[in-house]
Amino acid sequence: MSAKKSKSRIAAVRSSAKSAERWLKHAASRAAEDKSARASRSEFDKAQEAARFILSKTKLRPKIALVLGSGLGAFADEFASAVKVPYEKIPHFPRSTAIGHAGKLVIGMVGDTPVIGMQGRVHLYEGYSVQQVAFPIRVFARLGVQAVILTNAAGGILRELTQGRLVLISDHINLQGANPLTGPNDEKFGLRFPDMTTAYDKRFRAIAAAEAAKAGASMPEGVYAALAGPSYETPAEIRYLRAIGADLVGMSTVPEVIAARHSGMRVLGISCVTNAAAGVIDQPLVHTEVLEVAERVKGQFIALLRAVIPKIAVEVV
Ligand code: HPA
Repeated sequence: MSAKKSKSRIAAVRSSAKSAERWLKHAASRAAEDKSARASRSEFDKAQEAARFILSKTKLRPKIALVLGSGLGAFADEFASAVKVPYEKIPHFPRSTAIGHAGKLVIGMVGDTPVIGMQGRVHLYEGYSVQQVAFPIRVFARLGVQAVILTNAAGGILRELTQGRLVLISDHINLQGANPLTGPNDEKFGLRFPDMTTAYDKRFRAIAAAEAAKAGASMPEGVYAALAGPSYETPAEIRYLRAIGADLVGMSTVPEVIAARHSGMRVLGISCVTNAAAGVIDQPLVHTEVLEVAERVKGQFIALLRAVIPKIAVEVV
């Protein structure tokens, strides 16, 4: 090869190396821009994006959403024509780390009603922000869901609320020290100061009580106090909760109810009493027992949900 030719080849290699370097720099800066655009995207836009993704996975348009707490996720495995979407696939969706929570969204049919079910929720005690805890509810609102059924495991403060009982939540006391509506209000979701007078829909409660009665079970109502957890309460805290009017205690549900009401969705809340609250009986609290009781009551709980869903569907058309 002549000296001239090899010089021009070296120059060509240098220039292509330079352009590759320029391209890499450009790609890196685009990635950084994308990342910061993602971070600065509003909660509303994120919910919209997640909703669009979910809608792309199914032709069903769910009317009712179910948040299936500890041990109850199995109900979603019974949905007909179901599509399952793991939380980690859904843009901006939180991932579930708690034991007994599968971390899948299931869209399917219960009888003639299209529903969307969360197999497991996320909690403040997992380290999520209260906005992240409420995020799936905001996504449901973007999907056009009009009613949310929230279920949970709870400790019974009232002596009559014994292990294994299903209780209709009539009201709540928020002691989690957090509210998902903190920060600038996005009117696209709802009002700055949403009313919480009847957060737990009276008509839905009447429907659930009537369906329980038909199955030969009475369903008492109770006020649910939400604490951040994850440690269970002390007996002194339970005495305090009883004094301020709480009948049940748990570590979830309240942020979701606030977000649901903010977005105008109607709410039914049902607790499964998995244990007497701390100090009510002379026994320590263990999470495995909570899961065991939830598992034992599962059949009755699912039967109740099956009965209630078509009646609620009629209410929200
Ligand atoms: N306290 C708080 N959360 C709970 C309880 C309890 O006793 N049982 C089930 N979840």
